[in-house]
Amino acid sequence: MSNQIYFFMKGIVFTELMEMVEAKFGDEVMDNVIEKADLPSGGAYTAVGSYPHSELVEVVSRLSEETGLSIDDLLMAYGEHLFGIFTKAYSSFFVNESSALDFLAKIESKIHPEVHKLYPDAELPTFEILHHSEEKLEMNYYSGRKMGKFAEGLIKGCLAYFNEKAIIETESLEDGRKVRFSIHK
Ligand code: HEM
Repeated sequence: MSNQIYFFMKGIVFTELMEMVEAKFGDEVMDNVIEKADLPSGGAYTAVGSYPHSELVEVVSRLSEETGLSIDDLLMAYGEHLFGIFTKAYSSFFVNESSALDFLAKIESKIHPEVHKLYPDAELPTFEILHHSEEKLEMNYYSGRKMGKFAEGLIKGCLAYFNEKAIIETESLEDGRKVRFSIHK
């Protein structure tokens, strides 16, 4: 496997964040964020690069200051946006998939393991399924990176992709290292 493919994954997370910032908030906000943020990379992200998780936190924090939107809301919007990109960039994961809850129930057992095969250094969370039926999915999210709001955005993006409506209830536990999701119709 070439290094380019190996590192592409992390790059996509950053390049898509910058694309979203530019599209939603414009060039000025984008320039201010890059100028004010303390970014070892200088903010010049490429899809073939690999960047520390702390830079994502830094960009989102500056963006929050620039826009007045909360970090949580920005992470959620970003997750929702990124899921749409994933449906195109990883279209093979969506073959024979027709239900949002069934798809979400497979992140831990199928989707992220595939992601891990492609990118062995991917920093992935853990999901534990507590209940899965046609009408309802209950699962716990675990990650030291505390990206539960980003996960919530990805879940919203997943529901939108499958054209389904559901209520997403969350309970943040252990200072955000664990989040309990209840997604029900
Ligand atoms: C086609 C579907 C999916 C793909 C291709 C995918 C892929 C990825 C990739 C590439 C990363 C970044 C890893 C890194 O930068 O090191 C990631 C992280 C993450 N993924 Fe997924 N993912 C998918 C679906 C989902 C869904 C539906 C959820 C939410 C329920 C989810 C939750 C997360 C979270 C929360 C992280 C951030 C890392 C953390 O919290 O520790 N993913 N995923």
